[in-house]
Amino acid sequence: MRPEIRGASLQVRGLSKTFGKQQVLHNLDLEIASGEFVAVVGRSGCGKSTLLRLLAGLEPPTTGGILINGETLRQINHSARVMFQDARLLMWRRVLENVGLGLRHNWQIKAQWALEQVGLADRAQEWPAVLSGGQRQRVALARALVSQPRLLLLDEPLGALDALTRIEMQRLISNIWQEQKFTALLITHDVEEAVALADRVVLIESGKVAMDFEITLSRPRHRGDAACAAIIEHIYERVLNPGATSKRNLLSLNTRSF
Ligand SMILES: Nc1ncnc2c1ncn2[C@@H]1O[C@H](COP(=O)(O)OP(=O)(O)OP(=O)(O)O)[C@@H](O)[C@H]1O
Ligand SMILES: [Mg+2]
Repeated sequence: MRPEIRGASLQVRGLSKTFGKQQVLHNLDLEIASGEFVAVVGRSGCGKSTLLRLLAGLEPPTTGGILINGETLRQINHSARVMFQDARLLMWRRVLENVGLGLRHNWQIKAQWALEQVGLADRAQEWPAVLSGGQRQRVALARALVSQPRLLLLDEPLGALDALTRIEMQRLISNIWQEQKFTALLITHDVEEAVALADRVVLIESGKVAMDFEITLSRPRHRGDAACAAIIEHIYERVLNPGATSKRNLLSLNTRSF
C-alpha cells in the first residue's frame, strides 16, 4: 500500500486562549505550509501543548481562529493525529489491534502496513507489555500514521527515550515524513532535535511567536556539522534569553559551508 498523502496547510490567526484568569496564548499568528515540518520550542508552561490541543480541535480558542486548508476549524480536526510523550497503548490488546483501533474496513491490512513503516511488522501479535519504551513509541507512531493523517501533531513524543533510541526515532520520523509528505508540528524541549528535523523552528514566549527560524540545511542533518551546530547554539542562546533580539545574520548560519 503506497499512500498518496498531501499535507494540510495551517493558518493560525490572532489565537488567544485563556484558562480562568490566566491568558496562555496571546493573539498568536502562525502559518504552516502544506507538507512543512515545524518544530515548536519554548519554556515549560509557555503554552506549547495548549496550542497543539487547539490545532487538534480538542479545545476551542477563546478568540481568534485556525484555518485548515483554508477552512475554519470548529470541532475535532479529522485531518490530524496526535502523538504524546507516553505511548498510551491498551495493554490488554495486541500490538496490531492497538494500531488498528477505531478503523473499520481492512483494519488488519492497514495496521500491518503502519507497523511496517515503523519497522515492527514482526511484533504485530505481541502484547505491548513485552515491548521496550522505544518500541512502544514506534507502535504509537504507527497508530498515528495508520489513518494517513494530513497533519501529524507530536507533543514531545521522544522525551522519555534514551539518547540513542531518540536519535533512531528522529531518523525514522524524518524518513516517514519525507516519504509521505504530511504536515508535521513537533513540540520538543530538545533544540538539537528541532534543528535535526524541522524546516522551521518556532519559539513561543509570552503566548506569542517570538522567533521563527527557517532551516534550509539538506537532510539528513548531523548535529556535529559546523552549520548545524551553529544554528543549534544560536537557537539555544535565544531560548535562554527571553526577549533578546538576534545580532547574528541568520542566513549565514544556514549557508555556511562545512
Ligand atoms: N485545561 C487547563 N486548565 C487550566 N490551565 C491550563 C489548562 N491547560 C493548560 N493550562 C495552563 O496553561 C499553561 C500552559 O500549559 P501548556 O501545557 O500549554 O504548557 P507547555 O508549554 O506545553 O509546557 P511543558 O513544556 O511543561 O509541557 C500552564 O500554566 C498550564 O497550567
Ligand atoms: Mg507541554
